[in-house]
Amino acid sequence: MGGEWIRPLVCPICAQPLADYTQTWQCPAGHSFDVAREGYVNLLRRHKKLPEMVGDASEMLRARREFLAQGFYEPLSDLVNGLVVTAVTEQSTPVVVDVGCGEGYYLERLAQQLAGQPVVLFGVDIAKTAVRMAAKRVGEHGRFLVVDVYDKLPFVDQSVRVLLNLFAPRHPAEFARLIAPGGLLLVVIPAPDHLQSLRSQFGLLGIQAEKQAFLTAQFADLFTVQSVQTMAFPLHLDNHSLSLLIQMMPGARHLTPPQQEAIAQTPVVETVASFVVLPMRRDA
Ligand SMILES: C[S@@+](CC[C@H](N)C(=O)[O-])C[C@H]1O[C@@H](n2cnc3c(N)ncnc32)[C@H](O)[C@@H]1O
Ligand SMILES: [Zn+2]
Repeated sequence: MGGEWIRPLVCPICAQPLADYTQTWQCPAGHSFDVAREGYVNLLRRHKKLPEMVGDASEMLRARREFLAQGFYEPLSDLVNGLVVTAVTEQSTPVVVDVGCGEGYYLERLAQQLAGQPVVLFGVDIAKTAVRMAAKRVGEHGRFLVVDVYDKLPFVDQSVRVLLNLFAPRHPAEFARLIAPGGLLLVVIPAPDHLQSLRSQFGLLGIQAEKQAFLTAQFADLFTVQSVQTMAFPLHLDNHSLSLLIQMMPGARHLTPPQQEAIAQTPVVETVASFVVLPMRRDA
């Protein structure tokens, strides 16, 4: 990557360019940010006080890592990779940012797919544990930052070719500021029938039916929605995989003892994963 990778980054405090001094990153005004042992950098604005329960908890992240490592969502990752590869072709050193990257499963598979190409990959998430796990896994192929997506994001205007947003919170105005004209925003959300049979069998939280319409409306003035794709595939889960998947879901912390018992008593189960993939082009 050479030293080029730092170019899209700005200081979260004063918005001046950041420079890389190996152990720390610093702006001309002297604001400095230490590089953690695992290689990630905390760019949360210091005065910012976060509520206790923000971002994913460690046990949720570990469950997601173990579940995804079994390859259950590989078809989705392949679809995302295909769309990213098309969007970065013939660009010189394109920047790809995964906002809400979690423990880094998708970014690692993307890094493998793009190996040898002069692309710059960033993963950002508010959960320090997530960023640490992702940085460890992706190593020198990516850069990882702790940031709050609802805040101003520490990137130069129009510096990003592809912004990935997979099952994570969004900040439309900031996404529009960062993405270069003609660049791609790729949002993935669960479809209304995602894991429907599990939701009814165990009384789990449902998915907001109007999520896609709400999201499209949020981005309508800033992006042009391209061909929306729905992807569904079956999941055959043993008890362990089932419990990992349930731990990844919203509401996992609030399961009642009867729900926990019902899950524990289920040796195998079949369900269907179902996603909506929305590629949106930044208007020129
Ligand atoms: C459902 S997980 C998806 C993670 C990853 N994209 C994946 O699909 O495996 C949502 C992610 O958004 C992150 N997140 C939640 N609130 C955030 C915020 N305000 N700023 C940045 N990331 C946030 C969480 O920490 C979590 O890693
Ligand atoms: Zn500064």
